Amino acid sequence: MSSLPSQLAARIQAVTGVDPQLRPATKPQFGHFQSNVALRLAKEEGRPPRDVAADIVAKLDVEDLCETPDIAGPGFINLRLRSDVLARVASDLITDPNVGIAQVEQPQRVVIDYSAPNVAKQMHVGHLRSTIIGDCFNRVLSAQGHTVIPQNHLGDWGTQFGMLVQYIVEKRIDISEFDLPEVEQLYKDSKKTFDADPEFADRARRRVVKLQGGDEETLRIWRALIDVSLAGFNANYARLSVLLTDDDLAGESTYNDDLPRIVDELEADGLAVEDNGALCVFVEGQDAPMIVRKKDGGFGYDATDLAAIRRRVGKLKADRIIYVTDVRQSHHFEVLFQVARMAGFLPDDVEAQHVGYGMVLGPDGRPFKTREGGTVTLASLLDEAETHAAPNIALAAIKYADLSNGLQKDYVFDAERMVQTTGDTGPYLQYAHARVSQILRKAAAEANPNVDPEADLEAMVWGRISVLDEPAEQQLALLLSRFGEVVEVVAHDLTPHKLCTYLYELAGAYSVFYEQCPVLRSTGEVRGSRLALCAATRRVLGRGLDLLGIDAPDRM
Ligand code: ARG
Repeated sequence: MSSLPSQLAARIQAVTGVDPQLRPATKPQFGHFQSNVALRLAKEEGRPPRDVAADIVAKLDVEDLCETPDIAGPGFINLRLRSDVLARVASDLITDPNVGIAQVEQPQRVVIDYSAPNVAKQMHVGHLRSTIIGDCFNRVLSAQGHTVIPQNHLGDWGTQFGMLVQYIVEKRIDISEFDLPEVEQLYKDSKKTFDADPEFADRARRRVVKLQGGDEETLRIWRALIDVSLAGFNANYARLSVLLTDDDLAGESTYNDDLPRIVDELEADGLAVEDNGALCVFVEGQDAPMIVRKKDGGFGYDATDLAAIRRRVGKLKADRIIYVTDVRQSHHFEVLFQVARMAGFLPDDVEAQHVGYGMVLGPDGRPFKTREGGTVTLASLLDEAETHAAPNIALAAIKYADLSNGLQKDYVFDAERMVQTTGDTGPYLQYAHARVSQILRKAAAEANPNVDPEADLEAMVWGRISVLDEPAEQQLALLLSRFGEVVEVVAHDLTPHKLCTYLYELAGAYSVFYEQCPVLRSTGEVRGSRLALCAATRRVLGRGLDLLGIDAPDRM
């Protein structure tokens, strides 16, 4: 079932033939929704707008949803939902397993490429964003009934591993007891040696050949590096409580065997041509070609991504592929998609999208760096936030701060502000959820003094909303009824900040309701109805936070 406003919009469009551009009313006295469609049509038809509006209203069949429509001012059509309709839709949220989120008629297989840290390096602030954002997309699209296939495109291959393995061999280091920060230190040391000692550099290059040739000892150390790194990444994932598991791992090395074949195919098709010793694909509208095989015969990031697309379409049967990375990679993906389409790896009916995100800035408004000028690790950010609040609150603070601005925008990591329980923050929404839970718990205890204080509030029977006489009740029910529609928009546009804004408004409407409409102190039908409003609010706040990957506690 589609949302109330989209049902209304469809009814108006059936009369006018054009999109009524239904908007929330600007003032309560204008009802709930407003359309300027009559003004637009009047201009075209050269008639008085109020006459056009009257004609539309006369033909409009919305009795089952609305009060009689009003024509206001120069010819706006104002609609007010019937109280019983609002009450019904909001009440249904209490028990609907999908909490009003419409299930898609044609579920898609959606590959989401996110997180993708690099072996032998700690995850940094950029990976924090990719992981949080990708995970939110995963939750939102799954909630609509799509099959989401996360792909963690681990950076687990490349010439740097020659250098690192060679260093480990020469220094006779046993890394089995190492943790990720220690391995990262080895990486830095080996790089220093590589830059300073040309003979070591030569040996490191020969080690790359061994790695590519499948030499046993080299592979064994390479695998040990991956194991140590994965342990580190998984510890971060557990702290972030994200959905990613080891099943979602598909590192760059996954595609090694595909690379020569793909490149041969591209060459045979005449798509790839030699240019200065490298094999390149020239793309219309792009200055630089895509390099699918480097001068030295090696394959790089571009070729691997081509192979990954081919597999995601061919083997994983993706209908849609979403990449979540730093916005600075947008050109890479633009070219990649173009080449993949030319090569036939990415058919026209498979959508590929790159969602770029902005930078995390330090308190000084510049890209976040450690005091020494190094990259800030993800773990240290979590630590920092946890000095201000309990882990689940610190995490809510970080995720909400990350998701509540337009993704492309940079944002300042200000832990102290982010953990506040007032203002537009994650903890404020958690707090709203805890407050509404508390009322329900009290009501449950009043009804049955023996009730377990830890009992699941969701499993209790809360009745239905039947009275919406107060404006604050109306406004709350109206916002609740919009949840499904908001999730739809967020899924379509991949804009989590719209869900954040909605939940923030909802928490605000709940506060107003709480101040103006006594719940536990009221009686009879009103009390039952208000409790049901609380139950619906708790459900929507809880589900909404869950879609953001944020824990919704019953107590704070
Ligand atoms: N490992 C890369 C990085 O740390 C991100 C990989 C993104 N995914 C992809 N298919 N290229 O920047």
